Amino acid sequence: MPKLKFPMLHTERLTLREMQKSDAEALVAILRDHEVTRYLHGNLSALTLKQERGYIRSMRKQFLQGGLINWLICDKATGAVMGAIGLQPINRIHNCANAGFFLGLAHWGKGYMTEAFVAVLDYAFDVLNLNRVAAGHYAGNEASGRVQQKCGLRYEGTHRQAFLKNGEYVDELMYAMVREDWENSRRAQ
Ligand SMILES: CC(C)(COP(=O)(O)OP(=O)(O)OC[C@H]1O[C@@H](n2cnc3c(N)ncnc32)[C@H](O)[C@@H]1OP(=O)(O)O)[C@@H](O)C(=O)NCCC(=O)NCCS
Repeated sequence: MPKLKFPMLHTERLTLREMQKSDAEALVAILRDHEVTRYLHGNLSALTLKQERGYIRSMRKQFLQGGLINWLICDKATGAVMGAIGLQPINRIHNCANAGFFLGLAHWGKGYMTEAFVAVLDYAFDVLNLNRVAAGHYAGNEASGRVQQKCGLRYEGTHRQAFLKNGEYVDELMYAMVREDWENSRRAQ
């Protein structure tokens, strides 16, 4: 069986490529910042290099099984690691996926995640032929909600007290884009 080729994506300012074991250090450094992990599940700021390498290995395995795609976000000009964005999991029964993302603090507020997410949405609908991409965010994470709105996802509702974070239950605001939204946005361009 031919090996599945990882889909590298290019935008105006970014390259989205597969994570390598050698990227673990840069990712751990980004996630060490509590500002970055404040609205992410678990305690990713405590992630060790060994755990991150294991995570990257397991991402590769799950990608080859068709279960997810997790891209590293890099500066197109310098190759510097800036963050990550993923479709995770991808459900082939219902043709849908959940999206998640983070960027190093130094790169916030420059439109990078919007640029990356638009490319990932185009890939999801155009190439993977998905019907729905959903993305949720913790209440209070206004920047994430704004990215979802700017990318054309629609607010669908709130899962009340969906997660326990630092001893407190927090709501999750749910957004999604379905194929017809994506096709309409393409027609409008
Ligand atoms: C969420 C995140 C990915 C956004 O990335 P980014 O590249 O800074 O996003 P963009 O620059 O494309 O867009 C951010 C938008 O949010 C807005 N924004 C930022 N902080 C905000 C706040 N506190 N309240 C309201 N809006 C805010 C920005 O003004 C911008 O909107 P605009 O273009 O209309 O002005 C980044 O902040 C991050 O990595 N956060 C930590 C990890 C995380 O929370 N990931 C999401 C998990 S669901």
